[in-house]
Amino acid sequence: MTNILCIGAGYVGGPTMAVIAKHCPQHRIVVVDIDEQKIAAWKSDHLPIYEPGLKEVVSSVRDKNLFFSTEINRNIAEADIIFVSVNTPTKDFGRGAGRAADLQYWEKTARQILENSNSSKIVVEKSTLPVRTAEAMERILNSNGDNLFFDVVSNPEFLAEGTAIQDMETPDRVLIGGRETPSGQQAVQAIVEIYAQWIPRERIITTNLWSSELSKLVANAFLAQRISSINAIANLCEITEANITEVAHAVGTDSRIGPNFLQASVGFGGSCFKKDILNLVYLCEYFGLPEVAAYWEQVITMNEFQMSNFVSKMVHAMFNTVAGKRITLFGAAFKANTSDTRESAALTVCRALLDEHAQVIITDPYALDNARADLYDVADEIIFEPDPYLAARDSHAIAVLTEWPQYAQLDYDSIYRDMVHPSFIFDGRNILDHNKLYGIGFNVYPIGKPPQTHFTG
Ligand code: UDX
Ligand code: ADP
Repeated sequence: MTNILCIGAGYVGGPTMAVIAKHCPQHRIVVVDIDEQKIAAWKSDHLPIYEPGLKEVVSSVRDKNLFFSTEINRNIAEADIIFVSVNTPTKDFGRGAGRAADLQYWEKTARQILENSNSSKIVVEKSTLPVRTAEAMERILNSNGDNLFFDVVSNPEFLAEGTAIQDMETPDRVLIGGRETPSGQQAVQAIVEIYAQWIPRERIITTNLWSSELSKLVANAFLAQRISSINAIANLCEITEANITEVAHAVGTDSRIGPNFLQASVGFGGSCFKKDILNLVYLCEYFGLPEVAAYWEQVITMNEFQMSNFVSKMVHAMFNTVAGKRITLFGAAFKANTSDTRESAALTVCRALLDEHAQVIITDPYALDNARADLYDVADEIIFEPDPYLAARDSHAIAVLTEWPQYAQLDYDSIYRDMVHPSFIFDGRNILDHNKLYGIGFNVYPIGKPPQTHFTG
């Protein structure tokens, strides 16, 4: 039996350890966090995050070989392998503010591991970190005078929220990076053996530490770049009467380009894309490559334009003013099938509409609590309503901001009857039947397609 510890019980730590526990009944896995409420939730029937299939996996292994605890120090002492998945937010002070990763939580964790260890351990970087963080970790951890040795291994997370369990069960690949020393390679093999319990070995890629750290940033940068690229073209479509769905299909059928991640939208969100690109930009600047930094930064600039231009189009369509008008946002989560609202386009659009003095109503099946917490400073100006029919009642406009499939199934005849006319729908995800909505009487504004309106002249 190996004692595996995971520090950080968030979106990454919780689901990852639950799936490892399921496939490795021979190992004992403990997940710790400083947040007592979060740990209490992991121990209850109301898990702290919503993720399809997560509840089932957790209940099948909890208190058998998966345990949740706030006793960090004792569990560090008992662990053989420690996964670290604490948060690494963007630094908001000092050098690299707004770009570089804030590594203070990581460094504190490293020191805590050192202080509470009386045996050598493998420490696995699970959080996304700037390239060469492992080196700093090694230096801190191996600065002890006790003959303890820590191998640092990088094992970046590629799971996407909403499909986390599926992504863990059948990943495209698992990446494990380590030192090219005998001890470093042994540490890599120890982590390979965990994943090999259920993942074919050819899908487990091993590299050096730095390639592994950098690959995570690059994968996210490439994915985000595709979305910004298709969104850039969507703006052109709206003016030229080309249709972004047709363009994306035509372009994506080229096998060199591929069809995935070409869904034009109001803008990408989530905890990773913006943070990781900013991190990449900072690294490029730090290493004297300003042109490379500017190239990647444009992916974020485009995303910010996409969100603000969406609001501009709303205001323009609604006779150049939304002041005092009721606008209902369908969705608060940054994507479907998650309760996560971090960097969600919905929140950006909400704040921009409040700046225009609109009355905003937000509905979402799972993310309203997080939305209320994120919008705490303006929450008393917003109505949070879980029922989309009640939320849309008496509104001038609906904006679809999360691609929850249930929003495509609503009875829009009934919704239209209860709205103020002329009624507007801004489909920031292109999930609705636009011709049908137009037929009902809505003025319809998709992404990347010319609007369909009942106005003449
Ligand atoms: C991402 C990466 O996909 C994952 O590999 C990494 O581990 C973490 O970051 P995640 O942020 O959970 O995962 O979600 P993802 O599915 O990548 O979507 C990110 C954002 O892009 C969402 O707001 C989504 O709605 C948007 N998106 C995605 C689009 O607007 N269009 C697309 O075609 C795809
Ligand atoms: P991610 O999406 O990367 O998993 P989260 O914010 O969901 O990010 O989770 C990170 C978790 O790490 C949080 O629950 C936070 O409380 C926890 N955390 C941060 N610092 C520490 C620490 N020093 N010790 C234990 N847990 C920590």
